[in-house]
Amino acid sequence: MIIAVDGPSGSGKSSTARGVASRLGLRYLDTGATYRAVTWSALDRGLDLDDTAAVAQRARELELEISTDPDHQFVIADGTDVTAAIREPRISEVVSKIATNLDVRKELIRRQRAVIDAAQEAGEPSGGIVVEGRDIATVVATDAELKVLLTADQEARMARRGAELGSVTAEQLRDQIVRRDADDATVSEFQVASDGAVTVDSTYMTLDEVVEVISRLALE
Ligand code: ADP
Ligand code: CDP
Repeated sequence: MIIAVDGPSGSGKSSTARGVASRLGLRYLDTGATYRAVTWSALDRGLDLDDTAAVAQRARELELEISTDPDHQFVIADGTDVTAAIREPRISEVVSKIATNLDVRKELIRRQRAVIDAAQEAGEPSGGIVVEGRDIATVVATDAELKVLLTADQEARMARRGAELGSVTAEQLRDQIVRRDADDATVSEFQVASDGAVTVDSTYMTLDEVVEVISRLALE
């Protein structure tokens, strides 16, 4: 079984998808982490992020290990544990630039599909995966059994990110949510309700309620 969860920043994709996977005994893949890892590596190498060919080459060469255990997440890039580093604001600020590089997308989608295939082959009870991102239902796993488009009002998404980041200015918060939404919107397959997708608006729901709703849909 594949469960696809797509939605904008702060809609609750990561926490919800992890919760559903943990509850149902499935694997979990955070595709955003793959774009963040390439961004980390490109910055680490001092690459010009506008040099699309060099950045795409980096994406192809990067040795990437990403955990699919919902209860123990880690990301290792070229042997370095970057689990925490890829969440830093310096990465969030520029990740959309890397994610709109079509050659980077091609390479990372290929890798994401390989992770999904491996999870499918693992067999029951773990023969399934919850995959979370922006283009899962529309591009990465169009054959997903359940497709969820998770939304929340911009204000709610900003408040959630603010609570998570702690000491962050209103300006930085807008940059994290509003500007990134706008940059990401240039990729046409993002966050569009694909055929058969169920839209869940989490604005007035608790995290537990969202996990409950998606788990029930998965078991139907
Ligand atoms: P995304 O992956 O879509 O960016 P996250 O899962 O990282 O979103 O959630 C952002 C923050 O909002 C986290 O701190 C998370 O605990 C919190 N959160 C997620 N869903 C809800 C919800 N339904 N109600 C309140 N807070 C939530
Ligand atoms: O957690 P948040 O929603 O803020 O971001 P993320 O899921 O970690 O994704 C970071 C960035 O990666 C997004 O802003 C997109 O630019 C990109 N991304 C993508 O292009 N395709 C995906 N399937 C997932 C993320």
